[in-house]
Amino acid sequence: MPYAHITGWGMAVPEPVLTNADLSKMVDTNDEWIRERTGIRERHIARENQSTASLAAEAALAALQVANLRPTHLDLIICSTSTPEHIFPATACLVQDRIGATRAGAFDLLAACTGFIYALDMAAQSIRSGAIKNALVIGAETLSRFVNWQDRNTCILFGDGAGAFVLQASETPGGVRSAVLRADGSGGNLLILQGGGSKHPATQATVQAGQHYIEMEGKEVFRFATRVMAQATREAMAGAGWSLEEVRWIIPHQANIRIIEAAARGLKLPMERFVVNLERYGNTSTASIPIATVEAVQDGRLKPGDKIVFVGFGAGLTWGALAAEWSGPLLAEEKVHPSRYRIWARLRSLWRRIARFLEGLIWGRLS
Ligand code: ACO
Repeated sequence: MPYAHITGWGMAVPEPVLTNADLSKMVDTNDEWIRERTGIRERHIARENQSTASLAAEAALAALQVANLRPTHLDLIICSTSTPEHIFPATACLVQDRIGATRAGAFDLLAACTGFIYALDMAAQSIRSGAIKNALVIGAETLSRFVNWQDRNTCILFGDGAGAFVLQASETPGGVRSAVLRADGSGGNLLILQGGGSKHPATQATVQAGQHYIEMEGKEVFRFATRVMAQATREAMAGAGWSLEEVRWIIPHQANIRIIEAAARGLKLPMERFVVNLERYGNTSTASIPIATVEAVQDGRLKPGDKIVFVGFGAGLTWGALAAEWSGPLLAEEKVHPSRYRIWARLRSLWRRIARFLEGLIWGRLS
């Protein structure tokens, strides 16, 4: 049975930064309150010409570059997002087209902030079954487009960004070892975007009622999160047969420093064992775990051979944890340049649209 190794990683965050001081000019809040209650200092907000797919494609190409893998060699793309470009087509298909992954199947996965863990496990299972060899898992969000910028309960929390991993089959032991995926739909109302779905299709009335914005029972979500984080981490570790002492890093969903501190207390671990960067990005939902991971690799904290646990929670309610041994790129004979595929992919996409148009004309004339 092949192992599913994480061989590439990349992230993309928009440049514009919104600080707590900026927010205090928009709603009745202040830097001290936000830092004390959440740990967040600033977050990145997508420019008008950026979107979930554009951030996702950027992170994906960076991850392919690290893995030294051509987009054309991908078998599967899973894009985890709660803020897709459209209800359909899937954002993953838009990414597939942008990066020129001509042989890949592509779909979106929605498990809110836990989505990246769900998607990682789905990709790893497909690799371990022998069905596929190379997968791209993306977590991407533009939450700023769904936040009510007049609601101080939510607008201080969220930010935009994307992170991506490449997973590849290898006979060498390592990579993704075990995962715990859980859900409790009875708490679906605690964190919800009501409008625009089939229950409340977008109308003037839904817009007037603000149903196109994120609604959250902050206290309830907080209580739920502090309950499940330590437990899920323990279960994923047990599944991998690891003890807490063996695990080098816990990489949690970056929602609130107090939730991470509660998890640390629950596990009786010092905060130094947790990767935390929420002060600079806020809660980027499903993108937060890969973004934190990429930063930990880039600053040398996370090294090949390290045992890690990803753990998260989110709307649904969903929660989960995944234990993995950190790998690195597989040995390759030649250097590839995935970003060069971007231009080729654009031309290919344009050509396919033209061909479809011409085909339509021909068939139109014949019928
Ligand atoms: N600035 C100043 N005061 C505020 C703000 C603000 N931005 N927001 C709320 N307050 C006030 C409240 O009105 C309240 O005042 P009151 O006592 O006069 O009524 C007081 O501060 C305390 O408010 P609480 O809601 O009790 O604050 P709490 O300590 O619970 O913190 C928070 C709120 C940060 C939202 C916290 O509950 C939390 O982090 N919850 C989890 C949220 C989360 O992680 N969501 C994402 C899930 S992941 C996903 O799926 C996207």
